[in-house]
Amino acid sequence: MFCDYVSIHSQEEMAPGIYRMVLEAPEAAAAAAPGQFVNLYVNNPSMLLPRPISICEADPESGLLTLIYAVVGHGTDELAGYTAGTRLRLMGPLGNGFPLERAGQESVREILLVGGGLGIPPMLFLARKLHEMYPEKGIRIFNGFRSKPWIEEEFMPYGEIFNASDDGRSGFMGNVIDAMEYKMIFTDENIKALLYTCGPLPMMRAIQKWQQGYNMETWFSLEERMGCGFGACAGCPAKLRMPDGSVARKGVCKMGPVFPGEDVIFE
Ligand code: FES
Repeated sequence: MFCDYVSIHSQEEMAPGIYRMVLEAPEAAAAAAPGQFVNLYVNNPSMLLPRPISICEADPESGLLTLIYAVVGHGTDELAGYTAGTRLRLMGPLGNGFPLERAGQESVREILLVGGGLGIPPMLFLARKLHEMYPEKGIRIFNGFRSKPWIEEEFMPYGEIFNASDDGRSGFMGNVIDAMEYKMIFTDENIKALLYTCGPLPMMRAIQKWQQGYNMETWFSLEERMGCGFGACAGCPAKLRMPDGSVARKGVCKMGPVFPGEDVIFE
């Protein structure tokens, strides 16, 4: 894990309140895996806690690390004011990331990536990696937006894209589950689908319930529950089913943020 000052390569507001920040962070870019996150420390001594932000893309060759975040408080508001050349401290990559090897199972014919809101950016890194590792397997990408999509073209090389929003301005009118029901036809119970998801808790709770009717393996990234991001604040407990059948609360930042869908107990 890397912890040092890095420079901002570029920053842009992609949509109102949503920013794409590209960092010159060669060590972190080389080590990063889909589903992991970094902690960014703002240059303001009154804000000591870092901002955990999921990794949207990482390019070991250029050394660039891309993050997409929303302004949701003072820390992210400060980040949004930084321009190219600003230096700030980064810790990471952190977390376990998505288990890419699960997609290599012979029985897996469908790979579904389901993102909602700020859970969409980490799906881009995941889509690219899965496409590189398993070019023969079809990837379907279901992204749920509030309204118009603010990221889309970036996903195009990696699979079939279906955008959903309640107002229909992103394409499909409805939520991501409606879109999956509409687009997916499982005719053979021997065809197994593998679903990776990251997004708001209500979305993932609904996916957990919905998938029970299918031959499906699920992996949920719970990263939006985080506070400090490194185990110090006790602010990220997830209720999980343990291998022995017991139920325990575990820190998302230490144990996750990615867990088997069947182990997550939503409250
Ligand atoms: Fe603070 Fe996990 S986010 S302990």
